[in-house]
Amino acid sequence: MSDQVSGEGPQILERHKGQSVNFRSQARQFFAAALERLSADGVVAIGPEEIPGLVEQVRETADAKFGDYSGTMAMALAKRAGQKPRDVAAEIISRLNGVPGLSELFEKPTEPVGPGFINLRVRSEALAHAIVLALADSRMGVAPVDIPQTIVIDYSSPNVAKPMHVGHIRSTVIGDALAKILAFRGHSIITDNHLGDWGTQFGMILWGFKHLCDKERFAVAPTAELGRLYRLVRKLADAKPEELAEDPQAAALMATYPAVAAAVMAETVKLHEGDPENVSLWERFMPACREEIERIYSRLGVSFDHTLGESFYQPHLAAVVDDLVGMGLAKKSRGATAVFLAGYEAPLLIRKADGAFLYATTDLATIQWRIEHWQPDQILYVVDHRQSQHFEQLFATAKLWGCGNPERTERLKLVHIAFGTVLGEDGRPFKTRAGDTVGLESLLDEGVERAAQIVANGEGDRSAGGWSETDRRQIAETVGIGAIKYADLSQNRTTDSTFSFDKMLQLTGNTAAYMQYAVARVEGIFSRAGIDRETVRRETTVVHLVDPRERALALELVRFGEALEDVEADYRPNLLTAAMYDLAGSYSTFYDALPVLKAEGQTRVTRLALCDMTGRILRKGLELLGIGTVTKM
Ligand code: ARG
Repeated sequence: MSDQVSGEGPQILERHKGQSVNFRSQARQFFAAALERLSADGVVAIGPEEIPGLVEQVRETADAKFGDYSGTMAMALAKRAGQKPRDVAAEIISRLNGVPGLSELFEKPTEPVGPGFINLRVRSEALAHAIVLALADSRMGVAPVDIPQTIVIDYSSPNVAKPMHVGHIRSTVIGDALAKILAFRGHSIITDNHLGDWGTQFGMILWGFKHLCDKERFAVAPTAELGRLYRLVRKLADAKPEELAEDPQAAALMATYPAVAAAVMAETVKLHEGDPENVSLWERFMPACREEIERIYSRLGVSFDHTLGESFYQPHLAAVVDDLVGMGLAKKSRGATAVFLAGYEAPLLIRKADGAFLYATTDLATIQWRIEHWQPDQILYVVDHRQSQHFEQLFATAKLWGCGNPERTERLKLVHIAFGTVLGEDGRPFKTRAGDTVGLESLLDEGVERAAQIVANGEGDRSAGGWSETDRRQIAETVGIGAIKYADLSQNRTTDSTFSFDKMLQLTGNTAAYMQYAVARVEGIFSRAGIDRETVRRETTVVHLVDPRERALALELVRFGEALEDVEADYRPNLLTAAMYDLAGSYSTFYDALPVLKAEGQTRVTRLALCDMTGRILRKGLELLGIGTVTKM
């Protein structure tokens, strides 16, 4: 091979699965071996079961000056052994240096840093070799997981017949990104949109349709008319008297129909009991409801393997309740049937006194059905944090019950991927000026409209003036929708997220536009110079990482796989956006300082390789987040 890749470097890299090397997991393995020795030598007693947790703490070093990966376990171990952390760190270092293979990938560590950090620095030769391997690899050096799992992702899941609002975007966008990332990691993913298509909102539109429908409007625009009926009936059923006082039309209707709430309930019950008229109306409404949400999904570029709504599970609910009662898990309480779990004040209701089944009953039947048909290892529920208690109780009940297959249920990992509320810039839940929740469609329109202004202004690119109207529209759609998605994905999902069009559309900073622009810029180099990227990938067998900025960029590139691993560990897409932002930053530093096309010989080859990889990884990252790219903007 090359003179640059010296020693045993290539051997250990080649021993790696496929075309990749994961420096962090290698470092962790070396640390694990060193800790085993440390314990065997009697320096500190460490149980073998503790080792995975200790080496988990080997992470990217905060300051690259001190190395690339850092282990912090010496502090905790020293405390336990009553020794000085730096002494324990020195003992670990001496054992690390004895671990076979370490010096192929890392420079030999010499002494602890600060209070007892143990830092490892990737050897530039090994890094260079990893880049060459990744360059030729269609997965860009990211190895698939060792043990692929079957993972069901339950996301989006809006209650249809109500307009979708800004809150639904979080579930849809986070769920879609997780599905794509986990699939790229090598898992088998099944996406399922658990539509709320059987709830009281249908009672509202059934009653509304029968009494207040504008039949002509319904014939022309059924979805809009159903939306109007839903809002109107909800107001009549739920509104407080003082609110009605401000709305004369509603107040007049209230005078004619004084008991709307009870009537709505009765319509829902009739639907659930199979009343032919209500069932046939429901069947008539559903296509309109589906069309409404499909329009939004198609703009978001989201699709599902399955859309099995709540109605799908209705035939199974009675059996679920019987089973739970038979097992003694559910008990009657004041006419209703409920599962009482230790630690919760309120029980999990599965059947009301009037015989109606509940949200939780359907969710239990759904788990049973999924186990029977899909045999999943995990089911992820991407749902608002306000439903935390529902999911805790649901999961606990499912485990006790066994869902008709106790063995599988026992092994099944059930996870509520909770997320916070979408807030406006004033820090309060995001509402329109009139105080209504913001409809998703108008939100997307506004994002695209604002993106169109930026595109038209040529803020991103001076050549904007020469674009056709179709070009401009398409770019605005990709940039506008991408901005909304990225803004959501880049926030820590468990906190409330702030919605700001101004921030999300900035061309600098951690935004989709910045990433899309970076991709267009990096890739523009190849087209402008007429360089075939396939040839670069095929023919680059050696790269030389000489300048520290080349090295820093290369390191960010090989860390892509680590970021994806971290996303999976905690189901947090923002760890991917953060890694992409770091990569784009390293690329800017590199590109601003070092010539690429004007460089010569090996330097040019190396830099072109780094540009190619940067473009591909940023593009892949955006793709995994469900965000489109443009060739110019
Ligand atoms: N339809 C529910 C809502 O809008 C969310 C459903 C989430 N998925 C589930 N299996 N419970 O609140």
